[in-house]
Amino acid sequence: MDTKQSLSELIAQAIAESFPQAENLPSAGEIAGFLEIPPEKEMGDYAFPCFKLSRTLRMGPPQIAARLAEAIDAGDLCQARQMGGYLNFFLNRENFARRTLEHVLASDGRWGAGEEGKGKTICLDFSSINIAKRFHIGHLSTTMIGQSLRRIFDFLGYKTVAINYLGDWGTQFGKLICAYKLWGDRQEVERDGVEALTRLYVRFHEEAEKNPALEDEGRRWFKAIEDGDAEALELFNWFKELTLKDTQRVYDLLGVTFDSYNGEAFFNDKMGRVIDELKAKNLLTVSDGASIVDLDEEKTGMPPCLILKKDGATLYATRDIAAALWRKDEYDFDKCLYVVAYQQDLHFRQWFKVVEKMGYEWAKDLVHVAFGMISYEGQSLSTRKGHVVFLEDLLLNAIYKARSIIEEKSPGLENKDEVARQVGIGAVIYADLQNNRIKDIDFSWERALSFDGETGPYVQYTHARCCSALRKAEGLDPAEPDYSALSDDYAQELLRLLSRFPETVREAAARYEPSIVTRAVTELCKAYNKFYYENRILEENAGVREARVRLTRAVRDTVRTGLWLIGMEAPERM
Ligand code: ARG
Repeated sequence: MDTKQSLSELIAQAIAESFPQAENLPSAGEIAGFLEIPPEKEMGDYAFPCFKLSRTLRMGPPQIAARLAEAIDAGDLCQARQMGGYLNFFLNRENFARRTLEHVLASDGRWGAGEEGKGKTICLDFSSINIAKRFHIGHLSTTMIGQSLRRIFDFLGYKTVAINYLGDWGTQFGKLICAYKLWGDRQEVERDGVEALTRLYVRFHEEAEKNPALEDEGRRWFKAIEDGDAEALELFNWFKELTLKDTQRVYDLLGVTFDSYNGEAFFNDKMGRVIDELKAKNLLTVSDGASIVDLDEEKTGMPPCLILKKDGATLYATRDIAAALWRKDEYDFDKCLYVVAYQQDLHFRQWFKVVEKMGYEWAKDLVHVAFGMISYEGQSLSTRKGHVVFLEDLLLNAIYKARSIIEEKSPGLENKDEVARQVGIGAVIYADLQNNRIKDIDFSWERALSFDGETGPYVQYTHARCCSALRKAEGLDPAEPDYSALSDDYAQELLRLLSRFPETVREAAARYEPSIVTRAVTELCKAYNKFYYENRILEENAGVREARVRLTRAVRDTVRTGLWLIGMEAPERM
């Protein structure tokens, strides 16, 4: 028996194994999908509607239910009973509690982890910031969804490669060099970093309106980078360094790391292969002087994919194709995920199609993990109109606000700064990963930092509450747990959520959806708080106490795991 199986899976398997011989019977997996939760308690915990099999078995549902009830061996976890056309399952609550807690606690704080990814590699292209631009909150989702997916796949045994595909290529860098040469001051840039570069860039555009010759100058400098001119490269690399230094502070705050920073520029000398292959496979056509791959717009609805501009320059799509080919060679990935805003949907569909047309069967393993837009306190973000919220400012502000809440709520807490960091950052991450990624998000301070309802602080607080109960239980005499004490509805709901957790993680991985974990952890916390109000953990009766302590420990471990999977820390005191 697979220890990770949830109750519904176990029941489904027991049903599948007790079928009368017949062809075309559904699999255990399909049966699990048919299981229902009966509307009334008297009808048990699960029900299998037998009419689902009538056609295949050529029997009426009540007969099927009777046959199954006789044949089934559901172990000591539940009893099956025929009720009309249904086979109803009555859980043995004590045994369910024992089994679940034994499994969770034996996993050593890794409940839900797995080995199914062993030998498989997942590349994740995420965060992918642009050089010489400040990290603003528009890049929060890609960073946190990417980080979370990376942890989820790690947890399931995959090898993961986190790639920050830097936006370090384009004519804007020529303009920036030009601006720096004209008006730049080394000390100022050294001191203000990307901020200073942004000022130079803005100035370039202002001046170029009056003096269009500047544009040519900018292009000349870009060409100089392309040609490997020493001065141009020196400056460009310096800008790159400054940007990475600035963004590193944000990554440190968020706890995000990467395995590779090979960005767009890295692929400059790897474009020849793409062009040659496209030519050799007769996929490249010339239209208006540009080279394109036709994507059969009538059928696919996609306009042609632009590969080379008139002047022979490569494009964003060309570089993405070169990068994909290179990554396949380098990492032999099973999947390559691109955590990028929904706006780039067409771009990804187009160049994925090109790779498919090139004859690479692994084109199907390229996945655009898209997400919606983020706004801030009801205001949409636009760099042009100046509504930019820099991520570093947001995070530092979050820490600051968390610090004052802690000061108010727990003045006696030690290491307040450390906890404020964990809570502030956690609040932002939670708000980002709370809903399905495709949904647009509005970030609101009031909501994010509230201790009630579905928020980061609420979940972290529940974890700290478990820790506190466990600390109090530490000195007490050990005892054999009395699992029958966990038969009440509150404890059973917690156990059900715990037993489902491994399935939840797999679902999150299969759908590339961290919010599934966020929701599961939140449900677990809500259920624990209900249980906590209804039951005394440190009960006099040692057996009862031990059972409740074990349940608390299982919840604490699982909440901590869940928080880790979405990229949040779990303070032990708050
Ligand atoms: N740097 C790009 C942007 O900020 C995102 C790059 C996404 N990754 C990719 N392989 N295209 O819009």
